[in-house]
Amino acid sequence: MLVLLLGLGVLAFVGDVVLSHTTRAWFERDLSLRANLAVSSASQSLAAAWGDRAQLTSVLTDISRDERIIGAAACSDDGQFAAATPAFPPEFDCARITALMKEDGSRVDGAWMATRELLTGVVHLSAMPVAGVGGMVVLVHDLGFLGRREATTRTILVVAFLLLALGSLVMSTLASRFAWRDWTLDLRRALAGDAPREFQPLLRDVRNLVERLSKERESEAPGHPWSADRLKATLSEHLHGERVVILANREPYIHEKTETGIRVLHPASGLVTALEPVMRACSGVWVAHGNGSADRETVDAKDRVKVPPGEDSYQVRRVWLTPEEEQGYYYGFSNEGLWPLCHIAHTRPVFRSADWAQYQKVNRRFADAVCEEVDSDDPIVLVQDYHFALAPRMIRERLPKATILTFWHIPWPNAERLGICPWREEIISGLLGSSIIGFHTQQHCNNFIDSVDAFMESRIDRERSAVVQGRRSTLVRPYPISIEWPVHWLDDAPSIADCRAQVRRELGLADDALVGVGIDRLDYTKGIEERLSAVDELLTRHPEFRGKFTFVQLAAPSRTKILQYQQLNERVEALTETINAKWAVGTYRPIVLLRAHHEPPTVFKFFRAAELCYVSSLHDGMNLVAKEFVAAHDDEQGVLVLSQFTGAARDLTEALIVNPYDLSQAADAMAAALHMPKDEQRERMQSMRKLVSEFNVYRWAGRMLIDAAELRRRERMTGRFTALTSNHHVP
Ligand code: G6P
Repeated sequence: MLVLLLGLGVLAFVGDVVLSHTTRAWFERDLSLRANLAVSSASQSLAAAWGDRAQLTSVLTDISRDERIIGAAACSDDGQFAAATPAFPPEFDCARITALMKEDGSRVDGAWMATRELLTGVVHLSAMPVAGVGGMVVLVHDLGFLGRREATTRTILVVAFLLLALGSLVMSTLASRFAWRDWTLDLRRALAGDAPREFQPLLRDVRNLVERLSKERESEAPGHPWSADRLKATLSEHLHGERVVILANREPYIHEKTETGIRVLHPASGLVTALEPVMRACSGVWVAHGNGSADRETVDAKDRVKVPPGEDSYQVRRVWLTPEEEQGYYYGFSNEGLWPLCHIAHTRPVFRSADWAQYQKVNRRFADAVCEEVDSDDPIVLVQDYHFALAPRMIRERLPKATILTFWHIPWPNAERLGICPWREEIISGLLGSSIIGFHTQQHCNNFIDSVDAFMESRIDRERSAVVQGRRSTLVRPYPISIEWPVHWLDDAPSIADCRAQVRRELGLADDALVGVGIDRLDYTKGIEERLSAVDELLTRHPEFRGKFTFVQLAAPSRTKILQYQQLNERVEALTETINAKWAVGTYRPIVLLRAHHEPPTVFKFFRAAELCYVSSLHDGMNLVAKEFVAAHDDEQGVLVLSQFTGAARDLTEALIVNPYDLSQAADAMAAALHMPKDEQRERMQSMRKLVSEFNVYRWAGRMLIDAAELRRRERMTGRFTALTSNHHVP
């Protein structure tokens, strides 16, 4: 309809331009002819009166009786007035008209004509020679009427087009009403169950889809935050089940032997931070490597243990690995090969055939364990991270109808870099066993799709962001991971004031000391050396913080059997000593390095006690430490200094975003954080807290589950449709 109206508008405009141009040409020509006629019919009188000004004026007055003629004049050949009527415009004298005749104007039947604009309006000039006297008569016509006539024509044209548009509008509305009525009647009839039997299954899906979409729209409305309960409801509503099976190398609870008995540890892992609340909400089984010293003692006969201790909302199924398996699969292929391959942190990946063999074997063992834990032939399995690139296909082979959601928690390299891995095709093919592959960012999705394009034979549906193999698609989507909200560790946390006082007391700092914090595994991707050097730079460039600012680095030892991690550990220790020696005054040391595993309550105490947190990763899929710092500050104070190379930097734009390699920039950002007025801190913190609370981990899991359900429905419908059409072809 809009197109029709636009078309008519354009037509009216063009019509108006063409018409006014043509009518003007017609009228001017008409005037010239009439002037010519008048002069030629009065030629004898003119010739007789030539030389007698009074008589000549009288003849000219007769000629100009026409109401549209303003005036007439007779000019001699030497450009002098022979006579003129009183109203002849003073702007034109005979000399001027002679000059104009030389400059421009056109000729019709020997008469010269031109149009000129005067202050009083537009006039038409025509000059005709008078036979036998050696002079000419000039007539000046008023063209104002032409403008009026044009205006009238334009009005008629516009009204005509409007009537036409109105007519078309009425006609097309009536036509579409009738068509829509027919269509909706058909649809209503079909949805009410009157459709042919073979279309009933399809219609049931359509009905469900409509219902689901309207519910989804409602639930996405503001005031509908994602929570554990909502995730649970989503699971049962969209996937008809509440039990999910997670496969992740790292277990959420580690049982360790201590001198006083068995202790439960919460490992330092972004993956665990994110998924543990999801599991508490969904219930089910978490299949993981059991590597705690008391893990075997705490499982039942089927290697399962209920967690969280005392709450028992889901189970951990422990898989035991031999030292060789752990060495090849975990330390070797996963952490010396894939980890540095996927992170731009300047550590060379190492790929050994022996590690690859263990990786394949262990993936098979875990995939088998998953298949033992499911309770239907179409379970929901969440495969996590680079430890299990092969498991999705292995699970798919045994459970073709499973919904397998794989999430890659670290960056995915570009195709060229992935090419370093000798088994890149196998890795991609394994992952394509998934229903959905999720990454933190669109960039990583793009890299993955480019890698499929570069190394695999499959169809890429770029519009849906999917890889299609036969009737099965694997969606490739960004799902930026997050943390639970509210964070349950904060339920019983001491007040901010108490945390501040405790931390300063424990570290022997003055009550008004300024504290910065960094909390990481000791990993070369985290930029810990750059971070400590930035503290050094801060004290160099901003002397006001010497003796006042202390940076506390909590560093959990990680993957300590790998040489690069051992070396990093030594370098961090040495750097800390050097910087501390440089700025030491009395008991003051700018860096406190706490190299140990810290349980979440301690971690949150440090977050709450600190004025700033510096996350300086050189490359990081997301980095949940940044989001935890924001969650910890319910006082809406504190500043986050955040590396631009983290996925979190895309979400937390109110942090002070820095390039961790640029030490001066990072140092200045820390100084800005320490000087930042409370109001600005509040504004930034409020905005980041709002974002993290809305985009929490329940939303992350919920969105993936909803997309998976959608994919299942789509595949079911495609399957039915194919079955239907192939039935029709049976003779
Ligand atoms: C990263 C990985 C996780 C891993 C965590 C801790 O966040 O994405 O899969 O659990 O590091 O590493 P670790 O080797 O101790 O499990």
